[in-house]
Amino acid sequence: MTYVDARNLPHHVGIIMDGNGRWAELRGEPREAGHKAGSAAVRRVVRAARRLGLTALTLYAFSEQNWARPSGEVDALMGLLREFLVSERGEILQHEIRLVAIGELDRLPEIVRESLDPLRGASAENRKMTLALALSYGGQEEIARATREIAMDVRDGKLDPASIDVRALASRMPSLGVGEPDLIIRTGGEHRLSNFLLYGAAYAELAFTDVLWPDFTEVDFFEAIASYQRRERRFGRVLSRDASSVSPSSVTPGAPLCPDTDGAMRV
Ligand code: IPE
Ligand code: IPE
Ligand code: MG
Repeated sequence: MTYVDARNLPHHVGIIMDGNGRWAELRGEPREAGHKAGSAAVRRVVRAARRLGLTALTLYAFSEQNWARPSGEVDALMGLLREFLVSERGEILQHEIRLVAIGELDRLPEIVRESLDPLRGASAENRKMTLALALSYGGQEEIARATREIAMDVRDGKLDPASIDVRALASRMPSLGVGEPDLIIRTGGEHRLSNFLLYGAAYAELAFTDVLWPDFTEVDFFEAIASYQRRERRFGRVLSRDASSVSPSSVTPGAPLCPDTDGAMRV
């Protein structure tokens, strides 16, 4: 049994949803079948995150580098993305989830934009949880873009170079609108970030699992959170007995929605 302490939840969880292709290959099916099965895992995890009461969930759905995949696979992924946005629209709004997207959104095809943009607008005032879809996203690209914006502000006399600090960059990064990720989970057995949330990941706890994304269940998700809760985050300081005093996160903790009376959720 997995115990999740509802009083010590990560506020912002990021997930690198990897392993769809291998899941399909193991079954002798085309990679697209793995992506389709992966969509079901996305639904499961979004529901679980909302039930748990996370403040934000960022899902790495398509990297800037994934455009280099065969066009048939890219088209299939875009089609599935649209399908997800259309089919989940009702539930996202009903559960007061704010849907945002991060990445080079201009590169997305119209079939995605026409379902994504209205949902971003319609859910903009929702406050129960933010679901951020990383689409055509790259962490290095995000840093470069923020740097470009800063350079232009300096050029236009709006910004004093002496005031450029860690926060100045962070405030120009859409991925950090919900604060730094506390926990980053990667499925599929690889131990790397593959250009995900690089700047904000500075002090994120990392959880790796061999489970391929289409097989990832609520229990796997809760286990990753339970493992996060067993760790001691030090942020470069010496041991502290008061964990809350060392968090640099600028996010206001969201109140857990459905803890048991003792604050533990048994899964
Ligand atoms: C993750 O699964 C989905 C995307 C990157 C879009 P992969 O397609 O990378 O699956 P593997 O890593 O090849 O198994
Ligand atoms: C990372 O997975 C991107 C997403 C999960 C969307 P990749 O499969 O693209 O990463 P690499 O190629 O193994 O580093
Ligand atoms: Mg992969």
